[in-house]
Amino acid sequence: MQSFIRHRRLRASENIRRMVREHHIRAEDLIYPIFVVEGQGIKAEVPSMPGVYHFSLDRLNEEVEEVVELGIRSVILFGVPAEKDECGSQADHEHGIVQKAIRQVKEKFPSLYVIADTCLCQYTSHGHCGVVENGEVLNDPSLERLVATAVSQARAGADMIAPSNMMDGFVHAIRRGLDEAGYAHVPILSYAVKYASAFYGPFRDAAHSTPQFGDRRTYQMDPANAREAMREAASDVAEGADMLMVKPGLAYLDVIHRVKERFDLPVVAYNVSGEYSMVKAAAQNGWIDEEKVVMEILVGFKRAGADLILTYHAKDVARWLKGGDH
Ligand code: PBG
Repeated sequence: MQSFIRHRRLRASENIRRMVREHHIRAEDLIYPIFVVEGQGIKAEVPSMPGVYHFSLDRLNEEVEEVVELGIRSVILFGVPAEKDECGSQADHEHGIVQKAIRQVKEKFPSLYVIADTCLCQYTSHGHCGVVENGEVLNDPSLERLVATAVSQARAGADMIAPSNMMDGFVHAIRRGLDEAGYAHVPILSYAVKYASAFYGPFRDAAHSTPQFGDRRTYQMDPANAREAMREAASDVAEGADMLMVKPGLAYLDVIHRVKERFDLPVVAYNVSGEYSMVKAAAQNGWIDEEKVVMEILVGFKRAGADLILTYHAKDVARWLKGGDH
């Protein structure tokens, strides 16, 4: 008579392990972030993010070509403008850095899916994601600026708008703005659940978007809260979001899971800069096996419920996938 269960039967060989594998990473699950800057001849590594670069427009195509050749289908573009001011006037400028980049990429690589990050923090002198008055980040006046930014990005040819600002009502405002401007077909990937996280540190170096006073805790969420995340996601669904993002990813796998269970929209995990840099630093010291650790992290996102993963590791992962051992 059988006295215990033999789980190891299904782990005995590579064949059977592959046959019973529940989750997989595919190149088409990945969204690759790219930073674009003004200037000429620039391909400058971000010191806190080894392997991630700032590109000026004349160097951008070589990077995008590599991404396309690796089988990655989507990029998200972050603009780092040369000039900032109080209201972030470069954010919605027809010839702003990100608008120029979108136009250039869509012209040269029409089949690549180009997502635009819609926020003001890279563009404002105070580094906050909205309009500031008397030291306060104002909600409703920020919406107007964000709508103008989203519409200018759609006009430049963005396939999808990804607002990351965490103002209340941003999905509603941007959906209406896009519809009225003739972009009803452009979907919104909402950074629905975005925490006030210390894991964004390296990104803020890369995007020059550190707040000059205070922090983002009056608009980004408290890391201790998961039920509140359901309210954030529910309002974005009601306001017309097409996909929901949870950010950061690693410390919030429970939130990814809950969003996936509760809502029927595709869920995106943002594997943020700090998560990337920790892995890179440890790998560079020889303390971890980078490929194995990254694949384990990404499959963890899929297991938690992510349909897509926005990650700075995307090019590496696409390369490893071509190696065929996953
Ligand atoms: C802009 C924005 C941030 C990130 C993406 N969009 C920074 C922030 O909110 O401070 C962070 C991404 C990362 O850390 O990789 N609002």
